[in-house]
Amino acid sequence: MPGVADARGRYATPLDGFGRRSYIAGRLPNLPDLLSAWIVHPQALVPSTTMPSLGVSAAQARDMAAYLDSLQ
Ligand code: HEM
Repeated sequence: MPGVADARGRYATPLDGFGRRSYIAGRLPNLPDLLSAWIVHPQALVPSTTMPSLGVSAAQARDMAAYLDSLQ
């Protein structure tokens, strides 16, 4: 499986305007609790995703989700 060290150019999707998106990763409703859960452990929600768990706490993930929701 490719990792960060193999990345050449853009690897993940841009997150600009995320507060206006209806879905996370194209399939989960973009709700605050789901977005936080995604940031903590994406593969628990979408096993096939290549986004890694980031090793952040639930509180840190909530702050990141709040920031992403603020992007219009
Ligand atoms: C602070 C760090 C990060 C945050 C807050 C974050 C957040 C997100 C969010 C919200 C999505 C959904 C995007 C969408 O619906 O268009 C996403 C998708 C994705 N992220 Fe991350 N991400 C982070 C770091 C990373 C890292 C380090 C990687 C890889 C090395 C990564 C790889 C991906 C991939 C591949 C997707 C697409 C998932 C899919 O559709 O299966 N992310 N990320």
